[in-house]
Amino acid sequence: MTDADTILHVDGLARHFGGVKAVDGATFSVKRGSITSLIGPNGAGKTTAFNLVTGFESADAGRVHFAGDDVSRLRADHRARKGMVRTFQLTRVLGKMTVLENAMLAAPDQPGERMWNVLTPRRWRSREAEVKAQALEVLDEIGLSEKAGDYAATLSGGQRKLLELGRALMARPDLMMLDEPMAGVNPTLGRQLLEYLDRLRTERGLTVLFIEHDMDVVMGVSDEVVVMTQGRVLMQDRPDVVRKDARVIDAYLGGADE
Ligand SMILES: Nc1ncnc2c1ncn2[C@@H]1O[C@H](COP(=O)(O)OP(=O)(O)OP(=O)(O)O)[C@@H](O)[C@H]1O
Ligand SMILES: [Mg+2]
Repeated sequence: MTDADTILHVDGLARHFGGVKAVDGATFSVKRGSITSLIGPNGAGKTTAFNLVTGFESADAGRVHFAGDDVSRLRADHRARKGMVRTFQLTRVLGKMTVLENAMLAAPDQPGERMWNVLTPRRWRSREAEVKAQALEVLDEIGLSEKAGDYAATLSGGQRKLLELGRALMARPDLMMLDEPMAGVNPTLGRQLLEYLDRLRTERGLTVLFIEHDMDVVMGVSDEVVVMTQGRVLMQDRPDVVRKDARVIDAYLGGADE
């Protein structure tokens, strides 16, 4: 169950692929307004857990509570509309549109899709101008302003990752779920992105759940860390506690060569 302080609670989530138990009874929660990271070795089930939480894949068992509601049976787009937005480990930007168009398209459909029909041309233009201004601001924060007019297909891998983050931000989520947002992004910009997310948390109450392999980043920015191994949650605690835990060191921090 979720209380007012908990935005996401995942209970006994499971999903297998053939004989592989990708997620095997995972239970964890995310506090509202926190930056929580999800760590674990390659193949631990982190991305699959994201897919199950957001509804992009169906779970064999378990429940997902978001902002007080049981969303376990909702479709992915309905979960997204409730304020749960995620990015993908492999990006999904639209190559044949410009960077700016990609960002603008991701704006929420407020004032409501039906409303668009009754908007006067003047109001429509002002809404478009508003979305464009918001998109340009987001592009500026993610360091892509100069690419605004370029086709997304021409972006590098790291730049696509940034655009994907930008698109997720345009949706103005309550919970932002990021799958390895820093992978392929240069460290300076990576730090700027974290600062930006931190600012959104202060200004807008954004909650961030992110999958990350860089332990300096994880330990530096997280309020809480969820550790997964072999489909299960080994522990969830503050970074200083996780860092010292013998089980985590054995399972991940010590032996891992990543
Ligand atoms: N669609 C799928 N079909 C078959 N097996 C899958 C599928 N998706 C994931 N798996 C398997 O489930 C396990 C967990 O994969 P997952 O991608 O969730 O791991 P991860 O923790 O995100 O790893 P990484 O850090 O490498 O991204 C792996 O053994 C993987 O091969
Ligand atoms: Mg993954």
